[in-house]
Amino acid sequence: MSASRPGADAIQAALATVLDPEIGRPITELDMIESVRVTDDTVDVVVLLTVSGCPMREEITSRVERAVTAVPGVRSVRVRLEVMSAEQRAALHTKLRGGTATRSIPFAQPGSLTRVYGVASGKGGVGKSSVTVNLAASMARSGLSVGVLDADIYGHSIPRMLGVDRLPTQVEKMIMPPQAHGVKVISTGMFTRGNEPVTWRGPMLHRALEQFLSDVFWGDLDVLLLDLPPGTGDIAISLAQLVPSSELLVVTTPQLAATEVAERAGTVAVQTRQNVVGVVENMAWLPCPHCAGRVDVFGSGGGAAVAERLTRVLGHDVPLLAQLPIDVRLREGGDSGVPLVTADPDCEASKILREVAERLSSRSRGLAGRSLGLTPTRRS
Ligand SMILES: Nc1ncnc2c1ncn2[C@@H]1O[C@H](COP(=O)(O)OP(=O)(O)O)[C@@H](O)[C@H]1O
Ligand SMILES: [Mg+2]
Repeated sequence: MSASRPGADAIQAALATVLDPEIGRPITELDMIESVRVTDDTVDVVVLLTVSGCPMREEITSRVERAVTAVPGVRSVRVRLEVMSAEQRAALHTKLRGGTATRSIPFAQPGSLTRVYGVASGKGGVGKSSVTVNLAASMARSGLSVGVLDADIYGHSIPRMLGVDRLPTQVEKMIMPPQAHGVKVISTGMFTRGNEPVTWRGPMLHRALEQFLSDVFWGDLDVLLLDLPPGTGDIAISLAQLVPSSELLVVTTPQLAATEVAERAGTVAVQTRQNVVGVVENMAWLPCPHCAGRVDVFGSGGGAAVAERLTRVLGHDVPLLAQLPIDVRLREGGDSGVPLVTADPDCEASKILREVAERLSSRSRGLAGRSLGLTPTRRS
């Protein structure tokens, strides 16, 4: 034995710094290290993958190599990948669920600190998805842990807008969401073949949403944004049932025709007792290419009108959070999978989106319409 032979403790400590790229936790904690053998200055590590077709094989291998090579005395590292047995996978599954084998929605637990926002609109094409991905990317840029659930069954566009082309992997019944721009993404589009149009009925939608909320390993999220289908559909009601503390963000254009339906989408919150956190008016104006003026392509005042009427109907303040200009680069960003807040964080539209993101992530969770489980006491 040479004096410089690397110590087992040092190697374990190095392995403990290696995070599983999908789960985001140390591989040692996930029982992914089958064995470590040290022969002089060579270390053999056997790593257990959750599934054999794991898309992260190379990434895990290089992370382990890098970490162990950095241990003093190690000259070479050999990593062998094997696959967990069914029992090992089941144990991991239970561990990821926080020690329980039963299915539950983490965001609906009383102690959950995740803010859950459903992004709603009256009709399609108003920029709901564009706003969702830019808010998510902006929050991730400021260091928050963010997830986007694309619940727009009929018009799922989130994966493209965030440039996600990887499919989720599955560990037992747990789904590992792919990530892009620091955002974890799950879309109904990932579970349909090709681009087939989906005709899902209400109960199926409810079950799909329930599954995405409970079976996806979201980890500890600060914020979860749900891109809801346009209109006053069943899925908004399902969301309210599944995550009673969820709140709604309404997106509209300034156009009157759009505001009426946007309002209706918002007033679902009366039935569901959800809080509407505010209104974003998108495509509010087009900066004039020839002067400093603004062209009101879709009219004006729609966002403020929706905010006012929702305030009246819901009985709590529903602010107009932002007016967002038309910006060709916002559309281009959606098409190319790089959100505008990432591509050009300092342009006007990005600044506005960043402000909204900041506001939604820094506010304490609203209590309106929520059962606090407290008995009011009166102080004399
Ligand atoms: N402020 C904007 N400026 C320019 N294009 C926009 C803007 N908001 C949305 N778009 C574009 O309009 C189209 C519809 O937006 P999208 O976010 O898909 O709407 P929705 O999700 O409400 O159907 C997309 O092509 C998108 O890139
Ligand atoms: Mg959309």
